[in-house]
Amino acid sequence: MSRGASRVREAEMVAAAASPDRFPRPSSPELALLGRSNVGKSSLLNRLAGRRALARTSATPGKTRLVHWYRVARARGDTLLVDLPGYGWARVSKAERGRWRVLVEAYLEGRPTLRAAALLQDVRRDLGDDELRLLAWLAERGVAALLVLTKVDKLPRMQRAQRVRALREASGLPAAQVVATSAQTGEGIPELWRAFDALGDEKG
Ligand code: GTP
Ligand code: MG
Repeated sequence: MSRGASRVREAEMVAAAASPDRFPRPSSPELALLGRSNVGKSSLLNRLAGRRALARTSATPGKTRLVHWYRVARARGDTLLVDLPGYGWARVSKAERGRWRVLVEAYLEGRPTLRAAALLQDVRRDLGDDELRLLAWLAERGVAALLVLTKVDKLPRMQRAQRVRALREASGLPAAQVVATSAQTGEGIPELWRAFDALGDEKG
């Protein structure tokens, strides 16, 4: 497949919701971005969309507390990128954590058009209990998972392959479902689109 296959022609935000009753009606296949706050979900989404500032990014964790849907148009059709709120930020109440769980679980459990949930993980860190629990939770429900390693630009080239292998082994996912990326350099973005598209081709 050529690089051009992942070129995005149009990108726009189409919906935002703070509760499941406000989710938009399912339409195009969805790629959901899931992960700890500050891991780089919104930055990656902008890279996937080929737009600088479609989704809001911030050095202050926990800014994105709604679910946002962005439509991106590629040659093979529309995809919805779904920016889920991050978890794990400090100084958050129990009620706030409960709200996160209800919102994210309702999305992941009840979305017929969800093709893949990408769990983002900083390549420099090990998978924590939250990430391992999420991967198990997705597997139990038959939701296809991708492990997307972020911020590879921050790792010396010499260490990259070894870190990717260690994280893949820890996740238990097949190599085709693990992609190393950088929202800063654009590294891994065509590979991530390919991994996502392959999941759809599988389903037919
Ligand atoms: P929440 O919305 O709070 O859950 O965070 P998020 O996961 O959306 O993270 P966001 O994209 O806002 O990025 C957090 C910080 O990491 C920002 O300062 C980004 O500039 C930085 N960042 C994200 N991706 C990369 C990357 O690939 N490389 C580098 N060097 N920095 C990155
Ligand atoms: Mg964000």
